[in-house]
Amino acid sequence: MGNEMLRAALDSSRISALLTHYWRVSVVDVTASTQSDLAELVRLGSATPGEVLAANFQSAGRGRMSRSFEAPKNSALLFSFYIQPKRKKEDWGWISLIAGAAVAQSLQDYQARIKWPNDILINEKKVSGLIAEIIGDGVVIGIGINVGMEKEELPAPNATSLAIEGAHGFDRNMLLSKVLSQFQELFVSWDAEDDSVGELYRSLSSTLGKHVQIQYPDNQSESGIAVGISARGELVLDSGSHVQAGDIIHLR
Ligand code: BTN
Repeated sequence: MGNEMLRAALDSSRISALLTHYWRVSVVDVTASTQSDLAELVRLGSATPGEVLAANFQSAGRGRMSRSFEAPKNSALLFSFYIQPKRKKEDWGWISLIAGAAVAQSLQDYQARIKWPNDILINEKKVSGLIAEIIGDGVVIGIGINVGMEKEELPAPNATSLAIEGAHGFDRNMLLSKVLSQFQELFVSWDAEDDSVGELYRSLSSTLGKHVQIQYPDNQSESGIAVGISARGELVLDSGSHVQAGDIIHLR
């Protein structure tokens, strides 16, 4: 399929050349998890806001709800970054939604949409996932994007990759700088109390208007029509339920 460019190795100087000085990017070839590594650096006081850690391969990548996140070497864009919002903590639920909006916007050429809260779908298949963890006075956000994977390398039948969706002509260095730049723009204005990112998020949502099933972390489930996103970033159902955390299945 000729997707060598999509699998080109990460190069911190190429990434940094495309970014503002807000970001400081480190690349490692192999690690257990960029998320665990960066969280540890924050805890030790060795990472400040704008720190980014990317890897070509993770041996113990972590997903939401204690799941694993796996990808063959060089086939996915795997990175974590640290930010320190000024807004009050009760608003921080929006941060992972902002990160999802930044990824979806970066993948607009492929009509990427967001499944609440922050899975990124192309043609209703998952191409990217992210986690956001409060560490100290800030948040470590970890993003995985399936970039160059062929069908047989996908982690699940309902997954896809940019290569499978016809992407070409860029590499993971360019994509990483694009996602970080988009995130910075959205985050800086949100952090200055501009809530217009809410409208952007809603416009990119694949969930709103759909009949959904919610699988709550305590294994309870509920189904209904997704009718809104609350000011806190919760998914609002037609029953009036405000969903704070859970797995969503799009039924139709
Ligand atoms: C999910 O889909 O459940 C979230 C996946 C998040 C994976 C990324 S890959 C980079 C960073 N390091 C990790 O261990 N996890 C995140």
